Amino acid sequence: MVRLVLNDTIKKLLVPGKGILAADESVGTIAKRFAKYKIKNEEEMREAYRELLFSTKGISEYISGVILFEETLRETNSLGKPLREVLQSQNIVVGCKVDEGLIPLPNSPEEMVTKGLEGLADRLTEYYDLGVRFAKWRAAFSIDKNFPSNLCIEKNSEQLASYALLCQQAGIVPIVEPEVLSDGEHSDEECFEATEKVLRGVFATLQKRAVDLRFMLLKPNMIVPGQSSGIKMVPERVANLTISCLKAVVPKTVPGIVFLSGGQSEREACENLNAIATHKNLPWIITYSFGRALQNSALEVWGGNPEKAVAAQEVFLRRAELVSLAQQAKYDKSLEK
Ligand code: 13P
Repeated sequence: MVRLVLNDTIKKLLVPGKGILAADESVGTIAKRFAKYKIKNEEEMREAYRELLFSTKGISEYISGVILFEETLRETNSLGKPLREVLQSQNIVVGCKVDEGLIPLPNSPEEMVTKGLEGLADRLTEYYDLGVRFAKWRAAFSIDKNFPSNLCIEKNSEQLASYALLCQQAGIVPIVEPEVLSDGEHSDEECFEATEKVLRGVFATLQKRAVDLRFMLLKPNMIVPGQSSGIKMVPERVANLTISCLKAVVPKTVPGIVFLSGGQSEREACENLNAIATHKNLPWIITYSFGRALQNSALEVWGGNPEKAVAAQEVFLRRAELVSLAQQAKYDKSLEK
């Protein structure tokens, strides 16, 4: 039974031309996004912003699933309809971020480990009853001379495996997100090495702990140079490195790979995804699970002003369309205004 549910969710999420909207910024993370436009980080504003995104007419053409922050699961639109139902009524699968953020890793406190396993089984049961069919757990790894350390990879892999097992038991598809961060001066080769090492560790642990790889999705970073490296990103190179890294470490049984955008601009993310999508005959379906690269312009246009909501929705819809074209290798930068 549980397998049928998991399989059904994966099929609904991995539809050609569609991907996932990551709208699961925690209260702390959305504070940073809002601060840029002087938007007050109050629950009412977060709710209004998420209502704006989810009620954008036509968005289900490009978005198959949305990852929510837990708070949003219980919020409603201005007519009192739960936001999760606003999504479900458009046939968009409801997901939820279930980790509780990062804490310093004991014995290597400059690195981070994710917390949130305590009470997770009970929370998953509750989320399932609210309609949640997939979840996300993010581990974050930085690149430096001695990082990511084996200890950091080991600890985070253990957490990811425990989380994934609990999700699968609850009928919820786990998105396993080991993000190698793009902050720093490292080269793309260094990003490749770190990402390969992290993914190798993660999959070794997932397999050792008997996570069923057929019923999970991987959410990795693309292989890009560090944001402060001064190295220019070339989409074909990003795609070649990314695909060769994934081929080296991601088992064929994983049904789908859903990329994060990791601080790339909307255009960069589209160009890079498009270049990745030109690689054919891969064992997994590849699509997006973008946060910022789907939302940045829409958030800027809205700026917390209800009178700008419709204009922001138009921008959001167009961005989602462009990302969808990139997923199908049909994007070209001439499509940008
Ligand atoms: P970005 O696409 O902004 O990196 O967000 C995706 C995400 O879910 C990060 O955890």
